[in-house]
Amino acid sequence: MVVPKGEISTRLATMEDSRTVWSWRNESLTRLMSINSEPISWNDHQNWMRLSIKDKNIILLIAQKDLVDIAVVKFETKEKSTKLTVHINLNPTARSKGLSRNILLSALKHAKGIRDYNDYTLSAQIKKINIPSIRLFKSLGFKQTKNSSGLTTYESKLSSIMGCN
Ligand SMILES: CC(C)(COP(=O)(O)OP(=O)(O)OC[C@H]1O[C@@H](n2cnc3c(N)ncnc32)[C@H](O)[C@@H]1OP(=O)(O)O)[C@@H](O)C(=O)NCCC(=O)NCCS
Repeated sequence: MVVPKGEISTRLATMEDSRTVWSWRNESLTRLMSINSEPISWNDHQNWMRLSIKDKNIILLIAQKDLVDIAVVKFETKEKSTKLTVHINLNPTARSKGLSRNILLSALKHAKGIRDYNDYTLSAQIKKINIPSIRLFKSLGFKQTKNSSGLTTYESKLSSIMGCN
């Protein structure tokens, strides 16, 4: 499929994306904003990538713009649960350009095409210092549901996220 210039598209991640996703994961801002801020070893990352690609409860997507990989988005649910956790990490070179909202919407549309998530609640755990992430999720209508030291949970029914039909 030819994607018009400037548009964001998403595709399923493969093991060929492993090194790119690893480099983004170990980048300093991503580590600071992650619950586990330790550097991730290549072996641990490869195992995580393999499991994430294989697990039917996980959808791991790569977002692209003008053929450049600009983000990884992971959706994860558990058996018999209607909670869908979301993780997003942008290529450091793509950050702070106002792209994150459309990346997330594009990834959500992709995920909904794979599985019927209409009754699901999307959930993101965000560090209180992570202002861009908080603004991103709030802009999509997510509301704060839990608050523990340093970490806040933001949630929204998937069906009520605008622009994601
Ligand atoms: C969180 C993340 C996805 C946001 O994407 P981004 O490209 O940086 O943000 P955008 O440019 O799309 O902007 C989103 C909002 O954050 C604000 N913002 C962007 N960069 C900012 C910065 N450096 N400081 C403060 N606010 C910032 C924007 O103004 C915008 O808010 P607005 O819509 O109210 O104006 C991205 O920074 C990232 O991948 N961070 C590292 C991993 C991470 O933290 N993931 C989320 C874990 S919960």
